[in-house]
Amino acid sequence: MFDLSGLTALVTGAGQGVGRGVAAALATRGAAVAVNDILGERAREVCDELNLHRPGSAVAAPFDVTDLRSVLEAVRALPAIDILVNNAGVGGAEPMRVERFRSMDPENWEGPIRVNLHGVMNCCHAVVDPMCERGWGRIITISSGAGTAGTRIGVSPYAAGKGGGIAFTRALALEVARDGVTANTLALGLMTNEADEIDSALARSIPVGRVGSPQDVGAACVWLASREAGWVTGQTIEINGGSITT
Ligand SMILES: NC(=O)c1ccc[n+]([C@@H]2O[C@H](COP(=O)([O-])OP(=O)(O)OC[C@H]3O[C@@H](n4cnc5c(N)ncnc54)[C@H](O)[C@@H]3O)[C@@H](O)[C@H]2O)c1
Repeated sequence: MFDLSGLTALVTGAGQGVGRGVAAALATRGAAVAVNDILGERAREVCDELNLHRPGSAVAAPFDVTDLRSVLEAVRALPAIDILVNNAGVGGAEPMRVERFRSMDPENWEGPIRVNLHGVMNCCHAVVDPMCERGWGRIITISSGAGTAGTRIGVSPYAAGKGGGIAFTRALALEVARDGVTANTLALGLMTNEADEIDSALARSIPVGRVGSPQDVGAACVWLASREAGWVTGQTIEINGGSITT
């Protein structure tokens, strides 16, 4: 069950963190993986790591998901993509800019929306036609509790981008459902790489008693990407250790 042999995946923003874990999980289940990151060096490092375990299973695909022309060029140069994981995401001018909307410079609205929403749309645009033509595809968008429930003060443009990604993925799912293509979103709660800076009391407040890990997300992606998950589409699944808010 959940054997991904013979399938090719593209994971965006896979040079570190959650995306890196997702790429590793898909490769472990037999998928060939195109490892994207805006930082080529990061993508190549992850690629080398995956190829060490399964030679020839990974290829680096560095590009900026917000640049449609680069996305299209890069995807054209890759084998046909069966599985797209839209993972690349940022919080703002710096990673996860925290600032109340009332004091925010409007110039800082655009960044999080471009990566978290337009980046998702660009990558979907590049792969969805060929998926429909082949009659099979899996699209997974990595979002956040910020996009479903708001959850944190000071991240409104991020929430807008993440919420937009959820709405877009759901709407796309309906359009391509009869073509064998599923599209789902994983809305993540508090993850390990943020946890170092987080009060451990906050981590303990998560019902399962710990923050999430890239492996937790990787396992969910393996399921959604699998041949067995063909009846799951248009869903937003909260991966957050049982938190009501994160
Ligand atoms: N870490 C968390 O606690 C958390 C919580 C909820 C949701 N998320 C979401 O999970 C995803 C991964 O988060 P993470 O914590 O691993 O992030 P991260 O910042 O550790 O890694 C993101 C990677 O994406 C790359 N990237 C950034 N902009 C890009 C672009 N324009 N094109 C291509 N690559 C780009 C970065 O270089 C980086 O390697 C994001 O979508 C994030 O919003 C994370």
